[in-house]
Amino acid sequence: MSNQQKQQTVYRLPKQVGYRSIQTHTEPIPEPTKHEVLIKIKALSLNYRDFAIANGTYPFPVKPDVVPLSDCAGEIIDAGSAVDTVRKGDKVVVSFDPTNQYGPQKNWHHGHGGPIDGFLREYAVVPATAVVKIPEESKLGWPQLASLVCTGVTTWNALFGPVSVKPGQVVLVQGTGGVSMTALILCKAFGCSVIVTSSSDDKLQFVQEKYGADHVINYRTTPAWGKEALKLTNGEGVDAIIENGGAGTIEQSLEALKMGGLIAIIGFLAKPDVMPDVALGALSKGAIVRGITVGAKQYLEELVTFVCARGLEIPVDKVFRFDQVQEAYAHLESGSHVGKVCIEL
Ligand SMILES: NC(=O)c1ccc[n+]([C@@H]2O[C@H](COP(=O)([O-])OP(=O)(O)OC[C@H]3O[C@@H](n4cnc5c(N)ncnc54)[C@H](OP(=O)(O)O)[C@@H]3O)[C@@H](O)[C@H]2O)c1
Repeated sequence: MSNQQKQQTVYRLPKQVGYRSIQTHTEPIPEPTKHEVLIKIKALSLNYRDFAIANGTYPFPVKPDVVPLSDCAGEIIDAGSAVDTVRKGDKVVVSFDPTNQYGPQKNWHHGHGGPIDGFLREYAVVPATAVVKIPEESKLGWPQLASLVCTGVTTWNALFGPVSVKPGQVVLVQGTGGVSMTALILCKAFGCSVIVTSSSDDKLQFVQEKYGADHVINYRTTPAWGKEALKLTNGEGVDAIIENGGAGTIEQSLEALKMGGLIAIIGFLAKPDVMPDVALGALSKGAIVRGITVGAKQYLEELVTFVCARGLEIPVDKVFRFDQVQEAYAHLESGSHVGKVCIEL
């Protein structure tokens, strides 16, 4: 590499005072040691977490001057002498937490783009054990591949982790963001029916026409959407819920749930006026209420296998350039998206 090529552009968040404070730096391209790989980053995907990290509302540790963003897809351009699982030219995605190979999350200390540096840069060195190879025959674009990392694994864990849905069951997803739209695609491919809730009739029409949502409910015009979900399921209730609202929506989720159903607690988007009695609600429905913490590399491998084997199109709303980072964050902030917001290099 020439001297110029040994440098790269890296974005850092100096303080958690908003995404507009993110700044670029010129830094050396790192070299991989024996068990590491050097990745040329091709695409990044944004999550609500990145927005929360930037503005200081993320409830877990964040390192000072962090390189933001947890989700990247890229190409291996160099590998350490002991690496034999991937090689130069391979397309890969990098696991959210490089220390978590399988099983439950051990802690919140190693997620990219928060407690450790993420991928809003041109090149990154990671342990070879953190990457998952994309099958050569995969036709997915780089932004779609990057979108598998956080929301993809989170929904895979929620739907097919230790407690799994079954084909033919009914799943309700809250909202039309990255988590919900990824869950919709996975559920439909697996043979589940899907109810989507949203604050926007236009978005609901779009997800029915484009992604085949079976039923839709506007949670703004139908605040008692739990009862509506019961009606749509002949009074039986839904088998599983992707709970993105958290404390502010779980009362309706418990209403909508079938006896013995699963509530996968993923997000914290809605705050209640009065906290409902979740314990009594869960008891009365015999519910499984399960907190989801992204997921291990094992889930990323399973997800990549499923998505690539079935040629599933992960819903990407809009792709920005590497010099449009502020615009990408602003688009996520606007809430106008359906699916993922990405950056391509
Ligand atoms: N636990 C984990 O491991 C994990 C992993 C990934 C994400 N998350 C969390 O999951 C949540 C969703 O993430 P995301 O990346 O999908 O966010 P996103 O792309 O920004 O989408 C959020 C969507 O949620 C919907 N929404 C907002 N308030 C709502 C409410 N009160 N009731 C129902 N829906 C509501 C909106 O849909 P409409 O515009 O259609 O109304 C919005 O577009 C966030 O809280 C995020 O932090 C957690």
